[in-house]
Amino acid sequence: MAPQSHVNPHSAAFQHNQRSYGALLATLRERMVWAVRGGGEQLMQRHIARGKLPVRERIDLLLDVGSPFLEISPLAGWGLYNNEVPSAGAVAGIGLVEGQHCMVIANDATVKGGSFFKETVRKHVRAQEIALQNRLPCLYLVDCGGAYLPEQDQVFPDWGHFGTTFLNQCRMSAEGLPQLSAVFGGCTAGGAYIPALSDEAIIVEGTGRIHLGGPPIVKAAINEVVDGETLGGAAMHTRVSGVTDYLAADEHQALAKLRQIVRHLNLPPVPPSPQSTPREVLPPRFDAGEIPGIVGTDLKLPYDVREVLIRLVDDSELQEFKPDYGATLVCATAHIHGRPVGILANNGVLFSESSVKGAHFIELCNQRHIPLLFLQNITGFMVGTEAERGGIAKHSAKLVYAMATARVPRLTVLIGGSYGAGNYGMCGRGFAPHFLFAWPNSRIATMSPEVATTVLTELRKGSLKGHSGEAELAELARETTEQFTRQSDPYYATGRLWDDGIIEPSQTRDVLGLCLQLVAQATPRAAGPSPVFRM
Ligand code: COA
Repeated sequence: MAPQSHVNPHSAAFQHNQRSYGALLATLRERMVWAVRGGGEQLMQRHIARGKLPVRERIDLLLDVGSPFLEISPLAGWGLYNNEVPSAGAVAGIGLVEGQHCMVIANDATVKGGSFFKETVRKHVRAQEIALQNRLPCLYLVDCGGAYLPEQDQVFPDWGHFGTTFLNQCRMSAEGLPQLSAVFGGCTAGGAYIPALSDEAIIVEGTGRIHLGGPPIVKAAINEVVDGETLGGAAMHTRVSGVTDYLAADEHQALAKLRQIVRHLNLPPVPPSPQSTPREVLPPRFDAGEIPGIVGTDLKLPYDVREVLIRLVDDSELQEFKPDYGATLVCATAHIHGRPVGILANNGVLFSESSVKGAHFIELCNQRHIPLLFLQNITGFMVGTEAERGGIAKHSAKLVYAMATARVPRLTVLIGGSYGAGNYGMCGRGFAPHFLFAWPNSRIATMSPEVATTVLTELRKGSLKGHSGEAELAELARETTEQFTRQSDPYYATGRLWDDGIIEPSQTRDVLGLCLQLVAQATPRAAGPSPVFRM
């Protein structure tokens, strides 16, 4: 049967949704301008006057002409440090170099000398995780003053801090995933180790510098007075110390050299997908531009999530599993850009029936080597006596268990609310999906502001034990609502790298298509039995 849509784009509700979502998209686009602005006009002019290119121009020159770049967490740092650390001072993403998908990790020296804040380290480590999982060479465009010293306790001592970036670099290299650096500016301390630990390193004459301690540290430590160029200049490192392998006359030459090295890596040709062979790509029959009009911005208003799915998948074709059972979780196999995918999409609160249906569906996809896509719009699992007596705790646990142990790649997109244990069952960040993106209308928290306010005021009422405390309760309610509203905002989340970025609904199909291509190439078909327990 041909897929059908019941959306009426002329209805008042659709028009209202489209307008209110339009405002969210305008905000997102404004904030993306912030993300690319770096350290501001003055520092950018100083950077350019030194013969240096803006970080994103370097990336453009590095990538194959006209090829896309999937940037990871461009809005990292949003809402932090007075918004003075755009993109957390580093750009990371996946692009094609000489036909090979690579992870590019590039410092923005116009943002506090490219030094590392907490979110910079998180972005660097996350980009490396993605590279490792998807077997991508790492190309570091280095221009980095090491740890941002006022925040040193947030970036230096712990697991997941600066040291972990080097652990990852060494281990990936040892596993045969190339780690290559091009040095464009002053690289001190931690910044120096990025090229020093690379398999091969290029440095730009005149601007590139590498030293474990810069001139001020040398003066303080051993009372030696030396200029930066003598201490760690490009010519010295390429001809005397051997820290770098190639001297480039300028940035263009350095980037061309990096491309040449990639060309000669002798990487195995990308094998035909071990997951499956992509089939002919047919676009969806319905317009993804209508998704905002369907979804709207009010998470309380229900809609049929199938209307979203048929705007994302090839030919709008869904093979829906158990369509008449557990209706609040839509499970369907489909194709996106020719690649198979098993979709679990919320269509209401998760009950026991929908939970076990989801677990059963995951087992089927596991057995058939079909990657999973979780589309989260979930307030949580059903609560109440009836649900508890029906075993919601064990049934929801089956969904969590099946999702957590699935042997196929998992992708997640937050298309609405991501609350409570629903976040867990639907493969939230804690369950390490291969990629996780969010839409600008999404919200993420243990519970909604309204529910949190009720829970906390009820708890306080209990401890007041009959003492009147109207004013106190009102203040608590106000504070809780404010806190949960602020903290569940998608920009609060993306600024702290709880996701891989906020994307627009209309970009989602292409982003997922690339992710499915990457995971299909990198994930071998799991061997051994993969049982299906009917639930
Ligand atoms: N920690 C804190 N702030 C840093 C920093 C760091 N590691 N590196 C640079 N900055 C700040 C500078 O203080 C300056 O801030 P301001 O604009 O508020 O004055 C800004 O970043 C730009 O630095 P600047 O020195 O003007 O830029 P540059 O391009 O001429 O030089 C560096 C860049 C990285 C070579 C140089 O700043 C440097 O050597 N920094 C110190 C590095 C260091 O000692 N790191 C040790 C880390 S363990």
